[in-house]
Amino acid sequence: MNAPITTIGTISDVDIYEEIEALKVREDAAILAHYYQDGEIQELADVTGDSLKLARAATKVPNRTIVFCGVHFMAETAKMLNPEKRVLLPDMGAGCSLSDSCPAPALARRQQQLRAEGRRIQTVTYINSSAAVKALSDWVVTSGNAREVIERVPQDQEILFVPDRHLGQYLVEVTGRPMILWDGSCMVHELFSVNDMLRMKRKLPAALTVAHPECPANIREQSDFVGGTEAMIDYVTRFEQPTDFLVATEANMLWQLEAKVPRHRYHPVPGITCACNKCPHMARNTLEKLRDCLANGTPEIVWQQQFQRASEVLRRSLIDPTATVSELPGD
Ligand code: 13P
Repeated sequence: MNAPITTIGTISDVDIYEEIEALKVREDAAILAHYYQDGEIQELADVTGDSLKLARAATKVPNRTIVFCGVHFMAETAKMLNPEKRVLLPDMGAGCSLSDSCPAPALARRQQQLRAEGRRIQTVTYINSSAAVKALSDWVVTSGNAREVIERVPQDQEILFVPDRHLGQYLVEVTGRPMILWDGSCMVHELFSVNDMLRMKRKLPAALTVAHPECPANIREQSDFVGGTEAMIDYVTRFEQPTDFLVATEANMLWQLEAKVPRHRYHPVPGITCACNKCPHMARNTLEKLRDCLANGTPEIVWQQQFQRASEVLRRSLIDPTATVSELPGD
């Protein structure tokens, strides 16, 4: 057992990057970072990715500890898929507006109401949700696997899709499958300004626009490509010639695009109220908090009772492509 370190960050001439590297070795830790984290955190990470890639990577890293640089539901997902590992989140307050928009008791009431009406439903839940909501669900999807998972829902069942109404509407359009949609949205993607985007398009007429499916329809309709963050990287990689891309997603994604495909020029689509479009929850994680959580072993995602059921849903949705639902949670 290592002697606990409570503070190591007060020595100003010690490079914080070196501190973090040393603590990673001491704690046998891997750093997983979402593409919406600041570039300086992504640079330090062992794995960067979208929600799907990171959830799968969490099941593969050999280390005893995972430091999840992302938001709470992402770290919680990593813990549910890896009960035996220690999962740390640099700031426990890094939440998600989408997750907040769908409290578990409200979802349970809606499911009961639909079933009382005699409707046969399966609940397909976006990964941006709490463990309690996942535990009430039949499937969990990310932007990266939603279409494929929806094909696994039997045709004789209706789909209740929660919590993102924009992603849900997009999935209705691309799968042709009607869905009952929850009224949630992401505070960052909800606020892109279509007028500013059209102004940018007029200034850069040759530019292509890429948008996350969490964007409202007015943004998606004006875009050349709609896809999650991993799909965006794949899309821009297909263009050999330097190209201008207008990017309608969280602004830190530009760091990853510039790092992976530097031949292009990327322009962030601004929000209505703010030019930067940074997720305030993702921004809670800083290099200092990353160092401190490694040093002190806290904040830690602690196993809770509802994780068991939620982990089964996660596993069949994200890890096992052949799984079906044998038992509905409400039955
Ligand atoms: P991706 O899975 O596409 O990275 O999206 C994650 C997310 O939380 C978007 O708001």
